[in-house]
Amino acid sequence: MTDLSKAGTFQLGDRTVKRMGYGAMQLAGPGVFGPPKDRAGAIAVLRAAVEAGVDHIDTSDFYGPHVTNQIIREALAPYPDDLTIVTKIGAKRGPEGSWELANSPAELRGAVEDNLRNLGLDAMDVVNLRIMFDVHGPAEGSIEAPMTALAELQRAGLVKHIGLSNVTPTQIAEGRGIADIVCVQNQYNIAHRSDDALIDDLAKDGIAYVPFFPLGGFSPLQSETLSAVAAKLGRTPMQVALAWLLQRSPNILLIPGTSSVEHLRENLAAADLALPAEAIAELDRIGTADAG
Ligand SMILES: NC(=O)c1ccc[n+]([C@@H]2O[C@H](COP(=O)([O-])OP(=O)(O)OC[C@H]3O[C@@H](n4cnc5c(N)ncnc54)[C@H](OP(=O)(O)O)[C@@H]3O)[C@@H](O)[C@H]2O)c1
Repeated sequence: MTDLSKAGTFQLGDRTVKRMGYGAMQLAGPGVFGPPKDRAGAIAVLRAAVEAGVDHIDTSDFYGPHVTNQIIREALAPYPDDLTIVTKIGAKRGPEGSWELANSPAELRGAVEDNLRNLGLDAMDVVNLRIMFDVHGPAEGSIEAPMTALAELQRAGLVKHIGLSNVTPTQIAEGRGIADIVCVQNQYNIAHRSDDALIDDLAKDGIAYVPFFPLGGFSPLQSETLSAVAAKLGRTPMQVALAWLLQRSPNILLIPGTSSVEHLRENLAAADLALPAEAIAELDRIGTADAG
């Protein structure tokens, strides 16, 4: 079994987490809506992750909704002391599974309470405020009102640390004026690198950057360059994509998602993959001129 600590650790508020974690979104049903086809399989993935040494799980109560958190509780409670569960609030699901804004003070409090109830916790270690001016990517607009409401929940002791998701640098600066921000969760991977400068800025300030869709998300990464480099190294393209993220910056924490124990083990094995400089140079071209 791969020693996940080979990829290093990072300080998330008062918690130390391994840089190789797990994202639980794939454990709900199709379209992240309703129950999974294979609930026992979902439980097996979570248990395999923790047995392999994962101590950072990303989730949300709007996955399902409620389903993913209930599966996490069934699989893992009572939780190991070193497990950090990070959730996100700010959205809700419509009756057909649409993703809708839900960031009034009452909705944010209700979302934190839903997370606590479904996970069986008294306080959340980290809550990301998911910004929804554009559901698909960061878009400008003030986040003062929901940030102020979330900071109030932190003062009330329901939330230990705050993060931001789907945000611009301007919004991060605005959020940091209201409360400490321990992590930023935006879309980023070897082929989608809009946040390159942001990652470096956050690293200087000791703030974690947690890329969502590290493997391409709903359309997993496909790149001839990635496949060729992986073949040369005798590893899989997904392992190389994750190893590339690990070497990209020490503040990057990985939460690859999967509903399969086999894929989970494959992904975790990227923790000990040190990419040679020439491989990194080739891979760097995927997100720039060469579309792969
Ligand atoms: N803040 C946000 O707005 C936001 C948005 C999206 C996601 N997230 C978080 O980020 C986490 C990661 O994102 P994600 O799960 O959407 O996308 P991802 O990690 O980029 O990729 C998941 C997809 O890749 C497949 N996959 C995983 N490992 C594989 C492997 N070794 N070989 C082949 N296919 C593989 C999965 O299918 P299988 O199930 O078949 O393995 C799934 O289709 C989520 O779990 C969630 O916690 C946050």
